[in-house]
Amino acid sequence: DAADKKSRLLEVNKVAAGYFYMKLRSPAGQHGLAYLKGRGLSDETMKNFGLGYADKYRNDLYNYLKKKGYADDLLKDSGLFHFDERRGFSDKFWNRVMYPIMDASSRVIGFGGRVMGEGEPKYLNSPETEIFNKSRNLYGLHVARRTRRKNFIICEGYMDVISMHQAGYTNAVASLGTALTSQQCSLMSRFTKQVLVIYDMDGAGVKAALRAIPMLRQAGLSTKVVDLKPHKDPDEFLKAEGAEAFEERLERAENSFMFVIRMLEAEHDMSDPEDKSRFFHECAAKIVEIEDEIERKSYIDAVAARYNIDVDLLNSQVNKEALKGI
Ligand code: GTP
Ligand code: MN
Ligand code: MN
Ligand code: MN
Ligand code: MN
Repeated sequence: DAADKKSRLLEVNKVAAGYFYMKLRSPAGQHGLAYLKGRGLSDETMKNFGLGYADKYRNDLYNYLKKKGYADDLLKDSGLFHFDERRGFSDKFWNRVMYPIMDASSRVIGFGGRVMGEGEPKYLNSPETEIFNKSRNLYGLHVARRTRRKNFIICEGYMDVISMHQAGYTNAVASLGTALTSQQCSLMSRFTKQVLVIYDMDGAGVKAALRAIPMLRQAGLSTKVVDLKPHKDPDEFLKAEGAEAFEERLERAENSFMFVIRMLEAEHDMSDPEDKSRFFHECAAKIVEIEDEIERKSYIDAVAARYNIDVDLLNSQVNKEALKGI
């Protein structure tokens, strides 16, 4: 039955993870090991995350699992192989360092595989399978759920999670190569009340943050945004500046609403009265969306102070916006 099928798929993924793990520590995996060490990962970190290596032969894993007696029908549904009627099976992952993806109970449900150095695609991920649902899992959650830190950190990448954990930030998680989902937000809300958003310091990262903020709020999570500039992501920041400087950035995290307003400002020419007015109208429309009245008042004060506009004027604009909704 279905439960039985799932447990067999979990077993195949676990055996594959063990194989990749062993390969990384074998002569064939020295390339991969050097790559990961070159990125600053300790042996302990690699062990904690079960990192591995997929060999450069296209049937390496397939042959191994066949020798172990696993049936083709099961392997077809495992997400680990390409299957073609004419050419048969071939490994999906080869010549890549492998990041097993665990569910909250530490069971291997899929993999991310990275090329060592430059190459396309940079990361290859397991497809959705009967056991791997990307929108309902978070990379690193099996550790983060037991963190002693008071909040969670959501970031973009596998390496960001791993580097942060190595630096003591065992509260870091990442979505799995897709945009953050509402299910992932409610998953986090089972373990924490506050989430720090640390997406990449580029256009895509800002866009992802602007999308994530209302979803986190919807899940009842208080949200702040961390600025890592001039560095690109948590992994690069930690490598360049270390954990102490990182901690300072976390302490200086910006209220997510004020972040949204600041990003809105960037779209406007504040020296132009017409555009400036448009900006304040848009601010008022955003402030109206805040349901808590006390919080709303704080934002009116904060926006008025930061952008030097009369509080009463902004307040009356917010009230006008509120009437529009009725
Ligand atoms: P590093 O270069 O190893 O530090 O990776 P990164 O995490 O900084 O990469 P990036 O910011 O480009 O991507 C963030 C996340 O998106 C990755 O961790 C992957 O989960 C996913 N991703 C990146 N590149 C690809 C790709 O080529 N294909 C797919 N499917 N996912 C990708
Ligand atoms: Mn990115
Ligand atoms: Mn990145
Ligand atoms: Mn990176
Ligand atoms: Mn506009």
